[in-house]
Amino acid sequence: MDSLDSGEKFSPTRDRDWGADLQFLPATDSKQLEKKLYERKRLWIGVGMLICALALMTGLLVWHFNHRDVVKMKRIYVGAMEISDKHFLPEYEDPSSSEFTELAAQVGQQVRLNCPESSWELTGNSGDNGIVAYYQSEFDVPHCTDALVCLTHTSALMHWCVLNRTSNHIFLIIFSERKFIDIHVRSPGHVDSPGFPDSPYPSNAHMQWKFRADPGHRIRLDFQDLILEDNCQRDLIKIFDSLAPIEKRTLTEQCGYPHGSLSFISSGNVMLLMLVTNEDKNFPGFRLAGVIVPVDDLTSVSACYSFILLKLFAQYLGRSLGKLMNPKLCGSDLKGTVLTVKSNKVTIEFNSDSSYVDQGFAAEYEAFTPNNPCPGRFQCSNNLCINKTLQCDGWNDCDDGNDEANCKCDASQILCKNGHCKPKLWLCDGLDDCGDNSDEENCVKCKGQFSCKNGRCVPENLKCNGKDDCGDGSDESRCEKSLVLQQCSEFTFRCRNGRCISKLNPECDGEPDCEDGSDEADCDCGIRPYRSSRIVGGQASQEGEWPWQVSLHFKGMGHVCGASVLNNRWLLTAAHCVQDKDKQKFSQADQWEALLGLHEQSQTNKWTVRRGVKRIIAHPDYDHLSYDHDITLMELDTNVNLNQNIWPICLPSPTHDFPEGEEAWITGWGATREEGLSANVLQKAAVRIINSTVCKSLLEDSVTDNMLCAGVLKGGVDACQGDSGGPLSFTSPKGRVFQAGVVSWGEGCARKNKPGVYTRVTKYRDWIKENSGV
Ligand code: ARG
Repeated sequence: MDSLDSGEKFSPTRDRDWGADLQFLPATDSKQLEKKLYERKRLWIGVGMLICALALMTGLLVWHFNHRDVVKMKRIYVGAMEISDKHFLPEYEDPSSSEFTELAAQVGQQVRLNCPESSWELTGNSGDNGIVAYYQSEFDVPHCTDALVCLTHTSALMHWCVLNRTSNHIFLIIFSERKFIDIHVRSPGHVDSPGFPDSPYPSNAHMQWKFRADPGHRIRLDFQDLILEDNCQRDLIKIFDSLAPIEKRTLTEQCGYPHGSLSFISSGNVMLLMLVTNEDKNFPGFRLAGVIVPVDDLTSVSACYSFILLKLFAQYLGRSLGKLMNPKLCGSDLKGTVLTVKSNKVTIEFNSDSSYVDQGFAAEYEAFTPNNPCPGRFQCSNNLCINKTLQCDGWNDCDDGNDEANCKCDASQILCKNGHCKPKLWLCDGLDDCGDNSDEENCVKCKGQFSCKNGRCVPENLKCNGKDDCGDGSDESRCEKSLVLQQCSEFTFRCRNGRCISKLNPECDGEPDCEDGSDEADCDCGIRPYRSSRIVGGQASQEGEWPWQVSLHFKGMGHVCGASVLNNRWLLTAAHCVQDKDKQKFSQADQWEALLGLHEQSQTNKWTVRRGVKRIIAHPDYDHLSYDHDITLMELDTNVNLNQNIWPICLPSPTHDFPEGEEAWITGWGATREEGLSANVLQKAAVRIINSTVCKSLLEDSVTDNMLCAGVLKGGVDACQGDSGGPLSFTSPKGRVFQAGVVSWGEGCARKNKPGVYTRVTKYRDWIKENSGV
């Protein structure tokens, strides 16, 4: 019998009898006999008292060691071992069978694990021979929060305590309700967490689904939906490549709304899925499909086309552990790798060892004929085909910059030293747009000095020193370090305690910067389940890619405007959407319906939630001529449950900076061209934040300071009729999405040099708080 993956060896020893080790002090000296009776009496009283005191101390010590410090806790000890000289019988799956009892007792005896609370499970090995025996034992062990207390006990216990102190989930097992479900996967089937998708999963639950397949098969679990609380310390699922929760056999631990699809495959014919939840905030849970895969089908994935092109995305293979062979690839540097295979067959071999689990890779393949690889499209030097319109558009679409080389720049562009063309607007904007920094060279501002927002120049070394040297605080607003400043300025973030810090956009960046932690409070927002790829021009989005996007329907008209989710009760939209027009009473709340979690207008699905509107709070200063203050709050009539398709966007603080030239995304079901029809599937498009002075000079109508411009000056990309009220989403460097604007107006749609105009949300942060509490 080989021991396989068992935990530490443990021989239960009785708690030590501390009282037995203590010795009483010797009694009083006998030479005192000739002393007076009175004195003798006093002495006896003294001795009596001393004995009492000693007895009391002894009692206290005994109590101290046996009861107080040695608080007993239940601990669970799990392990597995392989029995190679026996054949598996189907009866071994049934713990009540005599075959099972007999073998379990035999194994238990051999490993000297005779704890009364031990339970056994037996399963056939995935090969032809052998049995795997899983055992689970409960022990009363000393409380291990204080390692010193454990040290006074047997070394085996000490080891066990230290071993398990790292695992919160074992801890949870001890306290929560337990439920075990046995599933023998013979044909594909699915498993739902309790109540999925209509009601949330139970709280304080600990459930285990034990999957078994016949020997010679593997089990694959494909998650179709997974929506748990976004904090693995509270709720989580864990999948083990074994039948018992052995830490070393963990395949994955998940919580929240994991990106993309999730599939896990066992290395043997068993798998364990564990769901652990805490007492509050429960979410819908999961639905998964369980499939059995014969071992022979797993070795390779191949495809037969003329020539094959492989493009890798969002992959992350464990450093030097996962490999893509010939060429061998590993690590996180594979993104955008394009491989051309000069054959009509390709095999991907994926190797990984057992010690590290990572995300893996996603590859797209495409077949082509060698003499005309990119019919009607531009061929990058790495053989990728891209749309001709993407050539010389200022974006690196080929991944090797090939589509931006040797371009003829037009009047609205500058020529970079590396031959790329970029919009003139990006000249000297502080960002390296060319890729060789040539757009930032020779900028006559403050030569060798820091240029303040108010135009002043101050020596570079005064920047971020905690003192306002510019006079407008701008030298203390974009610092790496978050110093607490003497004075606040219009560029510095204000903490809830009124103190200001020098770091740029510190909200929800994962690092506490304010002394009171307020920059990291209320950060359950702006995280999306899917990652978006950067594509110029409007295109259909993926379901759940913009969980804060809302469609506002007006009675008898259907979709009219967009909106964004601020929390489970409040939406943000444009004021011009809720202005009465003749007979249409757009200002009346009961005429509106909000559709959340919607993807296609023509087709609602299980994720779509409809809500009536209880209250509309349009900005009191909204001006219907200039569209100034074009912002409105909408309160839903009942709260919604947040999930992967309905999630709030983060609101920026009043001093949040959305830098000019940076990318932001517009989304909506509005018209796909000027005067055109509105879209059925939610559309997305990348635009750039445009400098206000440039924007004012380009547009005929006035652009106020409460407005923000964004667009693509070449034309072709913009918001349009029906997109109003929707969000302009900006992803922070740390990956959180903030709402920079509300779609407001434009001169036509997507015209050249006519950017879209958005309500500048930073200007309304306080108004939103005052009126909705968000
Ligand atoms: N006002 C329009 C609406 O009600 C949206 C305008 C956005 N236009 C633009 N070109 N960006 O839907």
